[in-house]
Amino acid sequence: MLDNILRDVKHKHTAKTTTTVKFKRDIWDLLMESDFEGDMLEVGCDVGNTTYVLGHAAKQLNKKVFSFEIDENRINKAKLLCNDLNCEFIKKDVYNEPWDISNIGFIFIDASHEEDDVLFDLKNSFKLAGKSGIVVIHDYGLVTLQGSSVKSVIDNSTIYEACKFLGEKADWNSLGSGRVIDWEAAQIKIK
Ligand SMILES: C[S@@+](CC[C@H](N)C(=O)[O-])C[C@H]1O[C@@H](n2cnc3c(N)ncnc32)[C@H](O)[C@@H]1O
Repeated sequence: MLDNILRDVKHKHTAKTTTTVKFKRDIWDLLMESDFEGDMLEVGCDVGNTTYVLGHAAKQLNKKVFSFEIDENRINKAKLLCNDLNCEFIKKDVYNEPWDISNIGFIFIDASHEEDDVLFDLKNSFKLAGKSGIVVIHDYGLVTLQGSSVKSVIDNSTIYEACKFLGEKADWNSLGSGRVIDWEAAQIKIK
């Protein structure tokens, strides 16, 4: 079943802004094995390539996916892709508008990769999902052209730690900019 779902969407080797096929498999497995309460949230959905996989997982689990995204054109494309799934797309600047939803147990963060923004996303995510919430952040081991990385935010944090790595370990951003120094994504927990 997952193989068919993965055939319907793009992956990082052809579309630089999305996730790898390995990541999409890993997040599916994490969702299926985690017994979390509430619905799912994606922060930054772009045109919905990963949302589609989350949406199919939500269908299996009898849950809903909410997606925050600033760009209306991308939302419209994501809506078309995910039209048969229980997904709700909300146009929002996540750094300047409230995350005004509730009953969320799983969050996938994939918006800005600047360090202050990453901390903001993590703070809001655990506020929403609670300490036991499952929070996964993409581009963990990517150093941006500005020199920021999620990994350095986590390494320097007294609050958060990475408890699991997802996706590819190396060479996963050949079409994108920046430098890969570690895993594609990480599940983050409160220490
Ligand atoms: C890397 S893409 C997301 C890819 C998507 N999660 C996937 O796996 O295919 C990052 C997205 O974050 C969105 N974004 C950036 N800043 C944002 C903000 N302030 N508020 C909401 N979305 C934002 C961008 O418009 C972009 O579509």
